[in-house]
Formats: sequence, C-alpha cells, structure tokens
Amino acid sequence: SDKSPRHCGKGMSDEEKIFTYNGVLYPSIMCPEETLKRLDSIQAREDDVMLVAYPKCGFNWMVGVLRKIIGEATGKKMDSKTPPLIEFSAPEYLKVIEQDPSPRLLGTHIHPDNIPASFFEKKTKMLVVFRNPKDTLVSFYHFYQNNPVLPSGQSWETFFSNFMSGEVAWGSYFEHAKAWEKRMDDPNIMVVTYEELKEDLSMGVRNISRFFGFQLTEEQVQQIAEGSTFRAMREKSNDSHAGMGKVFFRKGEVGDWKNNFTPEQSQKMDEVFKAELEGTRLGAKLNY
Ligand code: A3P
Repeated sequence: SDKSPRHCGKGMSDEEKIFTYNGVLYPSIMCPEETLKRLDSIQAREDDVMLVAYPKCGFNWMVGVLRKIIGEATGKKMDSKTPPLIEFSAPEYLKVIEQDPSPRLLGTHIHPDNIPASFFEKKTKMLVVFRNPKDTLVSFYHFYQNNPVLPSGQSWETFFSNFMSGEVAWGSYFEHAKAWEKRMDDPNIMVVTYEELKEDLSMGVRNISRFFGFQLTEEQVQQIAEGSTFRAMREKSNDSHAGMGKVFFRKGEVGDWKNNFTPEQSQKMDEVFKAELEGTRLGAKLNY
C-alpha cells in the first residue's frame, strides 16, 4: 500500500486528521500513534546527524543542506524521497532507520523531552532550527490550508488563537523554545535560526558541517549554499515532495507576517513572546 501521506487525507474529516497523544496534537496520517508509541525503540548512534525543528521553521531546507553535506563529505548516497522524520508514517519505517548505514540523517518535530533517550545518552549531535514565531505561524497556517493530511477548515483567526494556545500539530511553539533554551549550553546541540541562515547561508553550511565533524572545502561549502537557496530548492522540489513542492517551498522570506497579522495580533504575540522568552538566549536570537 502507499504509505506516502501526501496521497492520503482525502475523504477524511478534519477531526480524523488530528489526534492527541500525551496531551499534544499530532497529524494522524503523518505520524500515527503506533509509531509514536514505538519511538523509544530507536537506537541512536553517536554518528547520527539529528535535525530537530518545530514545524515550519525550515526543517526541509536543512534536510536539503544536510543531505548535500553528508553526500559531499562521505560519498554516501542520500535518499531524497523519504522525509527523515523519526515519527513519520508506518512503524515499518523504524526498520528502515535501523538498517540505514552511518552516518544516518534523522529528524524530528517532536518536543525535546519526547526525543528517544538514547539520542542524549549517545551524545548524538543535534542541529536545532528555530524561526521567529510570527513567520512560523503564517507558514504553519498556509501549511494547514494546503496539506491534505492536515485540517484545513480553520479561519486565520481560529488558527492564530490555536497556535497561541499550542493547539496545533506537534504542540506549542513556546514550549518547544523554552525546552531548547534549557539545553543551549550542551556542546552536542547547535541552535540556528531561519533568519541567520537567510542572512548568510554559506556561513551556516560551514558552521553546520564543522559542528557535525565533516570536512568540506570552501568550494564545496559555496556549492552547497548555492544549491540550497529557496529558488534552487523550490525548482527541484517536485521530484522530492510528490507534487507538493509548492506547499513545502511556499515563499521563503523573513517578515511575511506583516502581510497577515493585524496590529492586535502582532501585539498579542509580542506580549506572549515577552512573557515566555524575554531575557533568554534563544529569545534574543528570535528577536524580530
Ligand atoms: P514559508 O511558508 O514562509 O515560505 P518546514 O520545512 O520546517 O516545513 O518549513 C517550511 C518553510 O521554510 C516555508 O516557509 C518554506 O518556504 C521555507 N523554506 C524551505 N526551503 C527554503 C530555502 N531553501 N530557503 C528559505 N526558506 C525555505
């Protein structure tokens, strides 16, 4: 049977598309409950390349970058069809992960407290991607509207309030951010922001590959950065996202929230941001 979530979701009600697990919402086709229950059986490796991002913070962008880095540095042929989400799809996928030779590229959108313990025990290096919450919300709203596996019947106003209260897939942006803030000193964790990457992608590629211990020449760094711009990735995306390229590669800009937020919504977000993240190191990075 076809396990790709992109071919499913049609004929399902909005309620069926999302379920609650341990108090957090998840999309039922993309990450079924059986997979979530078995996540802890994943055995991390020291040399895994782990990518973690709250939804819509630039996960697929960094998947593209990390595939190129690993491919260039090790010669490993990287699968470009399956999104490397450990909570993705059928439980059989966990077997695929088990058999994948090192260095594996693995990724997740789940809260750090729910990442299988073995990743922390093995001191697996993790790249954590964040993005300012206003643009994240806008991107998430469009994703809900255009991805058939997610509930699309919400107005902008309803989605806004659901995002603010954490009633969206994978949970609260602020809970994720606060949890990563506590781990900022961990030498096995590197936090980058969408905005930094937009500002200087070559620097991002250079720092990320060093962090994971891969040796790249400056020429390789430049080549990877050039191949990973929004335009470059959007053009290629239809091959890798089963015809959903335009949904995953929508606009790729900083500040699109200004076209969507009302002044009241912007103020509300500023207040919550202040209450939750002001004075934190991650908060400073996400200052928008
Ligand atoms: P927008 O909806 O604002 O365009 P994720 O991969 O975590 O789902 O994040 C998706 C967001 O990252 C989308 O934001 C998408 O356009 C943006 N994105 C994807 N590839 C990108 C790239 N190469 N450069 C900049 N932004 C990119």
